[in-house]
Amino acid sequence: MNATTTTTTAPDLSAFWMPFTANRYFKRHPTLVAGAEGAYYRLPDGRRLFDCLSGLWCSPLGHGRPEIIEAVRRQIGELDFAPTFQVGHPKVFELAARVAQWAPAGLNRVFFSNSGSEAVDSALKIALAYHHARGEASRVRIIGRERAYHGVGIGGISAGGIGPNRRVFGALSAPFVDHLPHTYEPAQMRFSRGQPTWGAHLADTLERLVALHDASTIAAVIVEPMQGSTGVIVPPVGYLERLREICTRHGILLIFDEVITGFGRLGANFAAQRLGVTPDIITFAKAVTNGVIPLGGAIAHQSVYDALMRGPEQTIELFHGYTYSGHPVACAAGLATLEALEKGGLVERSAQLSTVLEEAVHSLRDEPHVIDIRNFGLAAAVELGARDGQPGARAREAFERGVQAGLLLRFSADILAVAPPFIATEEQIRDMVETLRGVLRRIA
Ligand SMILES: Cc1ncc(COP(=O)(O)O)c(C=O)c1O
Repeated sequence: MNATTTTTTAPDLSAFWMPFTANRYFKRHPTLVAGAEGAYYRLPDGRRLFDCLSGLWCSPLGHGRPEIIEAVRRQIGELDFAPTFQVGHPKVFELAARVAQWAPAGLNRVFFSNSGSEAVDSALKIALAYHHARGEASRVRIIGRERAYHGVGIGGISAGGIGPNRRVFGALSAPFVDHLPHTYEPAQMRFSRGQPTWGAHLADTLERLVALHDASTIAAVIVEPMQGSTGVIVPPVGYLERLREICTRHGILLIFDEVITGFGRLGANFAAQRLGVTPDIITFAKAVTNGVIPLGGAIAHQSVYDALMRGPEQTIELFHGYTYSGHPVACAAGLATLEALEKGGLVERSAQLSTVLEEAVHSLRDEPHVIDIRNFGLAAAVELGARDGQPGARAREAFERGVQAGLLLRFSADILAVAPPFIATEEQIRDMVETLRGVLRRIA
């Protein structure tokens, strides 16, 4: 089926090598968006698509927010670039302080990157540097988890748990990694609402990995508190608490990758607060600027930072950084975004909308092809049974029919994920689900 939405003015599509996309297929069946406003994208022919995934989980305030546009415009006029190596500019310090206010108590030192992938690599490097500075240089191993997505940097693919993202790049991967099992067990948790009650014991595998490798070789455990990219895999009740306890007992740092869950997606500032589990480092990106300008980072507990602040005062404590760490325009967008989230009470709104989403999305349970529905915070996944020998084909058809019906969905394998903007109305969320119901009834 062809969901072509190009017009006669469509650009030549050949030069752009698209990320995580079937390039040849797309270029024969392109879907181009021309604009965006509020909770909708606009197609070149003027039709609107509801933004079911807030961009790529990054635009909770919707599109075209005047206060962000104005902040960016003003910043470019005032200071369009300044290095943060050996000089500073006010907004980077302001934003770091603001991010720290959002974070759990104690996590108050913020290292900036430009993306989630860089945020993860930064966090992993901070973990290794921390142990090194404390005289435990043998702690170099990273424990990730199956089905984890931590971006596409070398650290991220090494700790990540998605086969195709790692397989071809094995030679580049970090040598000292191991993985916990993922926590998705359909027989135990299919159609769960919120956190499944089964599965806390899966955290105990960490004890086995400690026994295997010895704690003295393990620097950090990194997990997404809720796995987003591989289909909204929700942590079982008690699971993260147990990981925390085991990490503490063995002197292992716990990193929460909150690139998706940070800044309100689960109805609290971070998943850490929602779940009552405090890691040693949190990574973030995406929603911090509402997706308007790229920015990410790692928030470290003060004790992690303090451990690195040693040696003569003129020593560089961490040999790491990006030209655009704390880019002034990104910082201006970040400050405007966090202010808008705060002023609008939008984290609370995200929590309120999550009950609307939960009710609506679980009403799809008996629709054709649906084999599981799961939700947490303002995020949900509808998993479809795969067509024989054609994994992903059914979800792709749903995606394409969704475009025709007015939805911009996101699919990976045969899972459709939704995470609408916090500014969406209850009615828009219910409409999204009703439109999806129509789509499910039409696909083969
Ligand atoms: C949990 C998590 N970590 C890291 C990343 C990578 O972020 P980026 O694409 O900005 O590099 C993502 C992206 O979706 C993510 O979901």
